Amino acid sequence: MKASRIGTLLATSSTALLIQFVLQFAAGWYLSRAYIGTPDHAHSTMELIQGGTPHAFISNFHYWGSAVLILHSFLHVVCLLLAGGYRPPHYLRWYGSLALFGCAYLFQVTGNLLPFDKHGVQSAAIEGGIAAGMPVLGTQVAEFLMGGGQAAFNEQTLGHWYLAHRLLLPFAFVLGAVGMFFIQYSRREVKENRLLAILPILIPVSLAIFIPGPLGSRASELDYNQYGALVSWYTWPLHGSLQAFNSIGSNLGWIGTGVIPGLFTAFLVILPFLSKRIADSGVRITFGAFMLYFLLVGIFFGGRFAPLTGTRDPIVGEEPKTTLGALPIDAALAAKGRDFFNAEGCSGCHGTDGKKAQGGPALDNTYKIHTDSEWYIAFIKDPKSKKAGSTMPGFPNMAEEKLKGIAEYLRGPH
Ligand code: HEC
Repeated sequence: MKASRIGTLLATSSTALLIQFVLQFAAGWYLSRAYIGTPDHAHSTMELIQGGTPHAFISNFHYWGSAVLILHSFLHVVCLLLAGGYRPPHYLRWYGSLALFGCAYLFQVTGNLLPFDKHGVQSAAIEGGIAAGMPVLGTQVAEFLMGGGQAAFNEQTLGHWYLAHRLLLPFAFVLGAVGMFFIQYSRREVKENRLLAILPILIPVSLAIFIPGPLGSRASELDYNQYGALVSWYTWPLHGSLQAFNSIGSNLGWIGTGVIPGLFTAFLVILPFLSKRIADSGVRITFGAFMLYFLLVGIFFGGRFAPLTGTRDPIVGEEPKTTLGALPIDAALAAKGRDFFNAEGCSGCHGTDGKKAQGGPALDNTYKIHTDSEWYIAFIKDPKSKKAGSTMPGFPNMAEEKLKGIAEYLRGPH
């Protein structure tokens, strides 16, 4: 393609992105008047929104538009990279595009929680747990993300994320967008194709007319430390990366979710400075290698991702069917179990006594869900036998005595 054509295409694409962002803001603002961002009211206000006119359409548009934005803004970064658009003096355009993608992604991540359904809450709980599992500053980062002074999902998390969704992210966006606008319109190097720039909007509009956005069952406090959510499509490569490293060593997951995405981001951020040192082909190969990595780990380890519409409720494993749950707890056995729990590496991911999310969920509420010691024993030996999508490593060789003790400890209040 001729350079001028590429220039026009990129200019058109960035105008299209800005139009979509502006419409997303308008839709978000409209919805915010009907939505209440507290655990008590979020889900019921979402139900009202989905049952109302024109609210339902606007909400669906907001949902589909967000997905299109992520894909489009990423594609924009890829095209800019292939066209060498990161080279000086185009810093602002490059960083503006990265910022747009980053914002689109964070809007999606935070927005996913707002309906406060099981999928949203459990996804956020997993994200907090993953952050807390990082060996350096994990707890601090998780506290920052989860709000309410805790490193795990809590009552305050929804309000915290809604604030980010409504105020902080739009602010960051404005900075990024202004950078892009500034470059594109002040220099007037190339003109965009205005008609073409409007076309991408037709995708979310038509999707919104025909396919409603998802809304699952209302989350309860029990979902705050359940990790059963199916992976969302946009976290699918990260999930694959987590699982790939988990399969190498049970405490290496953070390399997949922290180190590698961190290196990828760092590469994109310093690219304008690297560009003097490495050839274009080197840049493309490095970028291609990251893409290939995320694609492969996604395919081989990412598992099935949540449907884009419907309830997306986590698939609940087989529930205990025996009456064993009603049996009184053997306190002496449970006390031994507690020691086993802390000595056998469980506390590495579940915190001492299972009270803290550190890659795995806190377990202090599991007794309200699973009361049967058989369930625990089977789960610990082979988590996938009870929860198909489980990311916990199994302990197939653990002695029966320890399994029984740990099960006794976990199946009662502790
Ligand atoms: C490498 C980190 C890691 C280690 C080590 C680990 N777990 Fe887990 N565990 C997880 C993750 C992640 C989940 C959430 C996924 C799921 O629910 O299947 C989980 C879930 C669980 C659950 C299910 C909670 C529920 O409510 O359904 C139990 C019970 C549990 N772990 C017990 C243990 C015990 C006992 C040990 C030690 C023998 C242990 N775990 C070791 C990561 C870990």
